[in-house]
Amino acid sequence: MPDEAEVGVGGDWVERFRLTPLAPDEVQLWRIDLDATRMETGRLLDGAYAVLTDEEKERAARMRVGTPRDEFVAGRGSLRRLLGVAVGAAPETLVLEKGSHGKPRLKEGLWFNVAHSQGVILIGLSMAGEIGVDVEYRNSMLDLEDVARTAFHGDELARVEAAGSEELRLAEFYRCWTRKEAVLKADGRGLTIEPKSFAVGPEEGVEVEVPLPVEVGGQRYFVHGVDGGPLHAAAVACVRGGMAIRHYEISAKFGGIAERSSAE
Ligand SMILES: CC(C)(COP(=O)(O)OP(=O)(O)OC[C@H]1O[C@@H](n2cnc3c(N)ncnc32)[C@H](O)[C@@H]1OP(=O)(O)O)[C@@H](O)C(=O)NCCC(=O)NCCS
Repeated sequence: MPDEAEVGVGGDWVERFRLTPLAPDEVQLWRIDLDATRMETGRLLDGAYAVLTDEEKERAARMRVGTPRDEFVAGRGSLRRLLGVAVGAAPETLVLEKGSHGKPRLKEGLWFNVAHSQGVILIGLSMAGEIGVDVEYRNSMLDLEDVARTAFHGDELARVEAAGSEELRLAEFYRCWTRKEAVLKADGRGLTIEPKSFAVGPEEGVEVEVPLPVEVGGQRYFVHGVDGGPLHAAAVACVRGGMAIRHYEISAKFGGIAERSSAE
């Protein structure tokens, strides 16, 4: 069981970041579970909404009411609050630019990435270069083998097909998918790079070096599986290897926030 250090959900979690600022050789992952924080979600969302820019508030207003909007508001607002502490500026004043494929960025020296799926949000922060994060709800209704045939490398597809039960197939599919998407998001070109053109490997519990094909540049990323919670799979990819992964959980289940000492 990971180490757990608790503080309150309603905004105090940002203080936790102030007390444990980002170190040069670490990636901090902040996981927000909107269902597990249900009792306090209102406070979390209010605190997040308050620091959005007018443009972001307009974007939120155009989104479907419910989970998609809550994920965007909680994700973007919490990201702004973390970045605000990291750079010592008011969260709502930060100018988030978009890279050529739409990847949000702030400035050299501080990198971040956000993902959300079915009420879970993952925010990654690093001072050591680009990162990508992914979190996915393990959806058993999806035709996994059909998607794997389209998007997975031969070795990955073979592992999904060889899984001995539906449960193992689901776990293998999402383990692989989140790692691939984390790489594509670290790179920033996302799904414009053919996901089946590279493989993420079968290793568990260790950092895995994943090279992209030379035709798209041959960049290398270092991938870690992450505990996505009971219903989700998650992963993080970094341009630099050997990073320490620190994982924080914002969840009322733990009475506040739980700090997990490492990935997986
Ligand atoms: C990046 C991408 C894989 C995200 O897939 P997804 O499963 O829908 O979404 P996720 O929950 O994993 O991530 C969404 C977050 O990723 C971030 N993001 C957006 N574009 C990104 C990119 N190119 N690279 C990395 N992260 C990106 C955003 O913060 C976004 O959250 P927000 O909209 O709440 O701010 C997909 O959108 C993609 O392939 N984009 C690039 C393709 C492209 O060029 N599109 C044209 C847009 S200009």
